[in-house]
Amino acid sequence: MGRKFFVGGNWKMNGSKDEIKKIVDTLNAASLNDNTDIVVSPPACYLEYTKGLASQKIHTAGQNSYKVAKGAFTGDLSPQMLLDCGADWVILGHSERRNVFGEDDQLIAEKVSYALECGMSVIACIGEKLEEREAGKTEEVVFKQIEAIAAKVTNWDKVVVAYEPVWAIGTGKTATPQQAQEVHAQLRKWLKEKVSEAVANSTRIVYGGSVTGGNCRELAQSPDIDGFLVGGASLKPEFIEIINAKA
Ligand code: 13P
Repeated sequence: MGRKFFVGGNWKMNGSKDEIKKIVDTLNAASLNDNTDIVVSPPACYLEYTKGLASQKIHTAGQNSYKVAKGAFTGDLSPQMLLDCGADWVILGHSERRNVFGEDDQLIAEKVSYALECGMSVIACIGEKLEEREAGKTEEVVFKQIEAIAAKVTNWDKVVVAYEPVWAIGTGKTATPQQAQEVHAQLRKWLKEKVSEAVANSTRIVYGGSVTGGNCRELAQSPDIDGFLVGGASLKPEFIEIINAKA
């Protein structure tokens, strides 16, 4: 069976009620490919608001969640809270969490494990920095990142892997389809060797990093690119073209 195309919009720390209403109204009015899973990820305080506005085919995701249900963890959120606000997905391990907030592989893996245990679907992000790519360490870095996550995952049905090279995020410098395909193929091979052939065949590996309406179709042609995780362009009407990149 083919892998269903997946497009996520990571709004990061952007948006207001007014802006979100405009974005969601535009999405609701558009013709969106039924063969694409669509998820938008607003700041957590707008999850319920976004969910209330969005049509049924648009799912919502938190941008982070902690590894326990509740307690003295000021400023943090649990998967249960996200579920309570209508989110069935959560983005974990984003490079901004790793590099701005210092989250390491171990913490991210524990968060992935706990969110899955709570019944959420997870967009697990990995990706190398520019200096790591230039040093020829891309595979080493992404394998180490996925290895930490894989060690804590028992059921891959609810995991989407997002390959987001850090040098391509928010820079306008998209990976070429060849560069992205190469890493996606390596990741799939890794899953086949270290997890199972079935998991390698069924797990969606999506690309993130300066995806736009202009470059999405070419990227979507690559056999191992199963969709996108989109930042800046997911706040704009061109997100519709990205959702429909495979149509
Ligand atoms: P941009 O699409 O803005 O480069 O962001 C990508 C990203 O970080 C999605 O999670």
